[in-house]
Amino acid sequence: MSRSKNKQNKIKDWFDETYKEKGFSYLRPPRAYKAFINILKLKSGNSVLDVGCGPGLFLKLAHEIGCNCSGIDLSQQAVSMAQSYVPESDIRLGNAENLPFLDNSFDVVVCLGALERFVNLEEALAQQLRVAKENSLFCFLVRNSNSFLWFFNMKILKRQNRAGHQNAKSLDQWINLFESNEFTIEKIFPDQWPLQKITSFLPLGIRRKLLPTIHNGVLPLRFAGEFVFLLSAKTSS
Ligand SMILES: C[S@@+](CC[C@H](N)C(=O)[O-])C[C@H]1O[C@@H](n2cnc3c(N)ncnc32)[C@H](O)[C@@H]1O
Repeated sequence: MSRSKNKQNKIKDWFDETYKEKGFSYLRPPRAYKAFINILKLKSGNSVLDVGCGPGLFLKLAHEIGCNCSGIDLSQQAVSMAQSYVPESDIRLGNAENLPFLDNSFDVVVCLGALERFVNLEEALAQQLRVAKENSLFCFLVRNSNSFLWFFNMKILKRQNRAGHQNAKSLDQWINLFESNEFTIEKIFPDQWPLQKITSFLPLGIRRKLLPTIHNGVLPLRFAGEFVFLLSAKTSS
């Protein structure tokens, strides 16, 4: 068996076990995924692909606003959960590096907390460009290697999860990667969830005044825990 296949199987096993043990609680709560809907300005009728969709938390919200949803995940456990959580979606078991979808199929492609898990990241990005329609949008949630949390967990506590292929890059490294793989960066936001979670105890009226629908965080962007990239495909002209 090739080294990359072997690595892939370990990642799959790790996620299968994690979802069996923790279920949905492994991930953030459903309401945290609303931010990606807002950033993408998703509309009814949009065709959406979620790569590394896990149990389907994002797809459930996208389906509720009338999108045509598809998803793919390496973990059989994640796929089974997603198929019963969003039964109206087309959820497939498979690898992001070899997407089983036709060219020019989707208006929107999202990949949330999964890019850094892929063994061959550049191939996975090329596949997402292939299945996206012209003028489609991409939304990626990716981890920052210059955040305090990453530094503390990896350098001080030495808690990098190698079995789950956990990884991170700095803001400049992510920008470089996307630009050199034929994407145009439309916008970069800090992960929306930490601040939404901290302020969630406040009454709704006060929260709405304090926190816009899409916020820019309190730290300089380069120190955010994770980044949300909104991208389009580079045009040749
Ligand atoms: C941290 S979870 C995020 C799940 C989901 N995107 C969410 O935000 O709720 C990462 C997911 O990526 C999946 N994954 C890892 N490597 C993959 C690959 N090569 N192809 C498809 N999915 C993969 C894992 O099985 C896991 O479900």
